[in-house]
Amino acid sequence: MTQDELKKAVGWAALDYVTPGTIVGVGTGSTAAHFIDALGSIKHQIEGAVSSSEASTLKLKGLGIPVFDLNEVDALAVYVDGADEINPQMQMIKGGGAALTREKIIAAVADKFICIADASKQVDVLGAFPLPVEVIPMARSYVARELVKLGGLPEYRQQVVTDNGNIILDVHNLSIVNPTELERAINALPGVVTVGLFAARGADVALIGGPDGVKTITK
Ligand code: A5P
Repeated sequence: MTQDELKKAVGWAALDYVTPGTIVGVGTGSTAAHFIDALGSIKHQIEGAVSSSEASTLKLKGLGIPVFDLNEVDALAVYVDGADEINPQMQMIKGGGAALTREKIIAAVADKFICIADASKQVDVLGAFPLPVEVIPMARSYVARELVKLGGLPEYRQQVVTDNGNIILDVHNLSIVNPTELERAINALPGVVTVGLFAARGADVALIGGPDGVKTITK
């Protein structure tokens, strides 16, 4: 199976976690795009979706799925999204697609985070994938210097402006032994909007696609 076929398998498997009649939290990226296709197949059974990016919103609307503003929604049963890395504690690096802030907000609202990923995303220790940090543009150099003090090598993601009008620093050279602590430390830097570490609020369920099919891991 190709990597995209594995992503498709987990995207469709996530339908099992969608309760009819509800509003569904929807992530961003190539794996989440398969989930959106799957959601399109049951669009008359759900009330709609809350979306974590302009790209996902466009795709959802294209399939005729109503997209709600998060401020109109009191609660979400599930949020379904991909990850760049996931460790055995169900903590993740996210933000390869630059949508980390909206992803983290919706994940915070949802009762359950369902992570959908192909098996290449599983790691023992987070950090081989450069850690995305969304930063207010004027704070770019300051935050970069502070990230160096934390042991990282930040790289400005050229030509990328997030849906919120900010920039992304991708932090290389990290071996993240205490993800919760690093999440707190980076989020505390003035100018940081969000770090793409999902440690304090990790996934509740991971659907991992591999050659033997979709494996379900629960917390
Ligand atoms: C988007 O900002 C990310 O958090 C994605 O969820 C993550 O990069 C995984 O993307 P793919 O599903 O495209 O691998």
